[in-house]
Amino acid sequence: MTEVTQSLEARYYTDPAIFENEKQGLFKKTWQFVVHASEIANVGDYFAFELAGESLFCVRDKAGNVRTYYNVCQHRAHEMVQGTGNTHVLVCPYHAWTYDWDGQMTSGPATKRVEGFDQKKVCLTSVRTENFNGFIFVNLDKNAASMDEWYPGVREELAAWVPQIASLQPQEYVAVPEKCNWKVSVENYSECYHCPSNHPTFIEGVVNPATYDIQPDPDGAKILRHKTQCQSLEKMTYDIDLESNEYAGRYQSWFLWPMFSFQCYPGNVLNTYHWLADDVDNCTAVRGWYTVDGEESQVIRELAVQDRETTVEEDVVLVESVQRGLKSSGYVPGPLVLDPRGHGVMSEHSIAALQSWMREAVE
Ligand code: FES
Ligand SMILES: [Fe+2]
Repeated sequence: MTEVTQSLEARYYTDPAIFENEKQGLFKKTWQFVVHASEIANVGDYFAFELAGESLFCVRDKAGNVRTYYNVCQHRAHEMVQGTGNTHVLVCPYHAWTYDWDGQMTSGPATKRVEGFDQKKVCLTSVRTENFNGFIFVNLDKNAASMDEWYPGVREELAAWVPQIASLQPQEYVAVPEKCNWKVSVENYSECYHCPSNHPTFIEGVVNPATYDIQPDPDGAKILRHKTQCQSLEKMTYDIDLESNEYAGRYQSWFLWPMFSFQCYPGNVLNTYHWLADDVDNCTAVRGWYTVDGEESQVIRELAVQDRETTVEEDVVLVESVQRGLKSSGYVPGPLVLDPRGHGVMSEHSIAALQSWMREAVE
């Protein structure tokens, strides 16, 4: 008899030691979304953020590239910037040491009087940064493979599906706090086995559940692609122009392990999910909605509201119940439903893939 695949043990979602392990071993070694390039569009625009317990900031340099540094001065460790803003020079607020866009120290009061003081040896600590179709990602692992190696083909597929992607800007972010471990939320996002019983609007007014399919990457990259046709046009909850490009009648999403997903709704409507792991029992799922040049769009505003009030709200109830259940002494992990005929809506192949990456991440 073939052995069934059991779901991941509860401690992966509830044990603070495993969360700490993920922080060091996973969050610091994978590509994490930070900000959209248009949010720091001008030279000197900066954006401070936290990742895996580290304070960091992105800044737009003179040549137009986005750079990322640990948010700490190399003198006596004051933070360099707070929040967001614009500066013409990177200057530490404590004793006014300055750094150029390469992070190299350029001056400091009275430092020239100190014999042997070599400011060339003083440099902010930089972080790997990539602009992925306008989305800025960082990786705290200096030796990490590039995003194109991590996620082969995705950059090009997105550009084909969303031809206007280079001119998109965020219109709105909707942050959704969830009282669950980040993996509960990511797993819930990554299967549609729960859709028929929980998401009437999504499966009746946005996509066609009969064709819903989630495929792990055929070459073993840590990507999950969700694909389906759109609903028949009279049932769609918003108007779409099927002529706008060859993909306009379809839905696809690209989940990029561990915490980001691009989604293209029918009609080339790009939106994103990214997760912030707040602590072992809490995460925040952030929905991003984009329009060309950030222009006001009533359709997108309404779609964001509909999504927040239906699919997202329905999911919050599910994931919070699961987190409570994972803490139950009576929970014995059950078998996953892996349909041997393929990866359709009633199969949990994607969960098997995710849980193997989750195990691997803490081993
Ligand atoms: S700590 Fe930054 S100049 Fe002293
Ligand atoms: Fe859901």
